[in-house]
Amino acid sequence: KQLVFSGVQPTGNLHLGNYLGALQKFVALQDTYECIYCVVDLHSLTATLVHDDLPGQTRSIAAAYLAAGLDPKKSIIFNQSRVPQHAELAWIFNCVARIGWMNRMTQFKDKAGKDRENASLGLLAYPSLMAADILLYRATHVPVGDDQKQHLELTRDIAQKFNNDFSQRIAELGYGVEMQVGEEKVNGFFPMAEPLIEGPATRVMSLRDGTKKMSKSDPSDLSRINLSDDADTIAKKIRKAKTDPLPLPDNVEELKDRPEAQNLVGIYAALAGMTSAEVLSEFGGKQFSEFKPALAEVAVAKLGPINAEMRRISADPAYVDSVLRDGGERAGAKAEETMKMVHEIVGLLTN
Ligand code: TYM
Repeated sequence: KQLVFSGVQPTGNLHLGNYLGALQKFVALQDTYECIYCVVDLHSLTATLVHDDLPGQTRSIAAAYLAAGLDPKKSIIFNQSRVPQHAELAWIFNCVARIGWMNRMTQFKDKAGKDRENASLGLLAYPSLMAADILLYRATHVPVGDDQKQHLELTRDIAQKFNNDFSQRIAELGYGVEMQVGEEKVNGFFPMAEPLIEGPATRVMSLRDGTKKMSKSDPSDLSRINLSDDADTIAKKIRKAKTDPLPLPDNVEELKDRPEAQNLVGIYAALAGMTSAEVLSEFGGKQFSEFKPALAEVAVAKLGPINAEMRRISADPAYVDSVLRDGGERAGAKAEETMKMVHEIVGLLTN
């Protein structure tokens, strides 16, 4: 059975990278798959423990989900902490995963900085909670941006070690599902969740530096387009985006050593539902002075209505809460089923 799971942290404003790398894909998947989309509030405690307005941030991500087009009748939408089994399964995974695995995570190294001894234990164990999010529902597909690839590999490592360490119990209880691991067919409990990282905007770069990822934490607001930006701000940021002096090339190979050009073409393609090659067949040979206004136009056309819808939905926090409550109940029922089996597999008495 195929099931999609993904999550977004309620920290800071959502930007174009989050939209193209994640939200837009979430929406595209909800008609074909059973989907669960989470606002991962427990994760947001790993770097910052005390938030100014965590409930508001959580509602704001939920509002963005809805504004982008997620339908709570089709997809389960909830915030992580409502389903305590996320934290419970994460604990078990803390005992499956090795400290060395966590120490190798580039996101941990970046966020912990030089003073690693002083990073929170939660920041180190972050990927273990993420694996729990995904595997609690035995999800098979995880739409994410390119920066989450390493965390997905770790999720598979955890699933594989759990399946392996408990293989006898899983077989005795008859809880195994046949699955492909590399060349082999094995009987495991947790699936090898696949990341879905496709299309022209899996890694949206900063508008000020084509070698840096667009991110919430960049001090320059000109480096990113926020989902909350109005039309004038979007147009201004695109006008000021860094470029090189050459016209756009005719083919994608020639974008390779031109990170800023590659980024803007990729953004255009993702917003317009085209490939980068199609964008270049339209704009190849043209100057940025001509391309940028066209890009601003597609960006405003796509993001403007989402922005307006986000405002409309955010004005009714009681509605947002009711969506999260209902989603939490549906997710909770699934989580309970999985954890009942996990308890039996591990040998935790619950009767
Ligand atoms: P987060 O909250 O940092 O980002 C949410 C999603 O946005 C994607 N993203 C980008 N995509 C393209 N270009 C960019 N510049 C860019 N910046 C961010 C991220 O890849 C992500 O898909 N660890 C996750 C949250 C998480 C999760 C999970 C995801 C927790 N549990 C389970 C999937 C499944 C994170 O910090 O995403």
